[in-house]
Amino acid sequence: MEFDRLIANKTGMVAKTLRGLEDLLAGEIEALGAHNVRKGTRVVYFEGNKEVLYRANFNTRTALRILKPFHEFRARDENELYRGAGGIDWSTILSANMTFAIDGVLNSPYFNHSGYIALRVKDAIADQFRAGTGKRPNVDTIDPDIRINIHISGDKCTLLLDSSGESLHRRGYREATHHAPLNEVLAAGIIMLSGWDRRSVFIDPMCGSGTIPIEAAMMAYNIPPGIYRKQFAFERWPDFDDTLFSKIYNQEHPEPKEIPHIIGSDMSAHAIGIARNNAKNAFPGKKIEFRISSFENMMPPPGPGILITNPPYGERIRADNLQVLHSVMGDVLKKRYAGYSAWVLSSNKEALKFTGLKPERKITLYNGPLECRLVKFPVYPGSRKTGK
Ligand SMILES: C[S@@+](CC[C@H](N)C(=O)[O-])C[C@H]1O[C@@H](n2cnc3c(N)ncnc32)[C@H](O)[C@@H]1O
Repeated sequence: MEFDRLIANKTGMVAKTLRGLEDLLAGEIEALGAHNVRKGTRVVYFEGNKEVLYRANFNTRTALRILKPFHEFRARDENELYRGAGGIDWSTILSANMTFAIDGVLNSPYFNHSGYIALRVKDAIADQFRAGTGKRPNVDTIDPDIRINIHISGDKCTLLLDSSGESLHRRGYREATHHAPLNEVLAAGIIMLSGWDRRSVFIDPMCGSGTIPIEAAMMAYNIPPGIYRKQFAFERWPDFDDTLFSKIYNQEHPEPKEIPHIIGSDMSAHAIGIARNNAKNAFPGKKIEFRISSFENMMPPPGPGILITNPPYGERIRADNLQVLHSVMGDVLKKRYAGYSAWVLSSNKEALKFTGLKPERKITLYNGPLECRLVKFPVYPGSRKTGK
């Protein structure tokens, strides 16, 4: 239904995100001046002009990908799929000397292999070109000029142009990572969910490769998330408007009046080396203070402030050690972080209980396929552990 409408009015778009971040993304898209913004599961549907499309890629922190649906048909087997995909004039989308790639997304009892549906759509495109001109565009799955998605839901097939290319969580600043790095979109999402005011003290005491403090600093300093990307797919579209995109790219982003104190700390010197490097890629000048320290030994500035972290989950650490770590975390929060709000993201619900602190909010999020909880522990002056 949503796709029909988006295709019919020709200005329809779909932004993909991680489950749990749909409200935030809808807010970001609305702020760009998009119309008819509607939420689905892991998607936001909206309408807008070319500027909205470019800005959705360049300026939103919680979008993974922006797609533009352009054709829809019904198919229940591979022949109907082939015929349906051949039912449009592909020369309006690409030319014989361009390269293309097809990605398939499948949720249908009629088809069972997304690679195969992508192959049939590719055949339909190549055969139409060959029949018409004798020449056909080549497939390049690594660096194509045009990326096309085929989504099949039941017997409903939708063709969409991918305007992003590489997923938008790949901001371009993270060259190396430490253990279990957080997806940048999820990091930005949890900071936004926490309601951090972008002025008060911000700490991630287990920052690994620095994703959370770097995303926080990019927000506080108004740095667009897309500024370090080498390219967006829409830059290779035949209708690319260079002047419009340059205007968006070069727009001034004034530094904040109040500079927040942002601290990233980790007990691993190796992790902090990586985090420092990633931060250097993200902004010249020192916007984040990095420390090598265990959480137990770190002295934070006095509150108020916010602490956001994702401690080890359990894959690399034994369950009993994880319980001790969370119990120590609870003690340290209580002793040193009075006046802070602590937000902890973990896929290990059991371990979270060992902090012994009373959660004020619990939000379910997904780190890829992994279900996580983002839990808020307010730490009041004189906060007591609940004794579990
Ligand atoms: C899941 S990783 C964090 C990943 C990080 N958010 C990123 O995007 O790269 C957990 C981190 O906690 C650190 N860590 C574990 N125990 C710690 C402790 N007691 N004090 C400080 N850091 C600790 C590990 O070195 C690791 O870098």
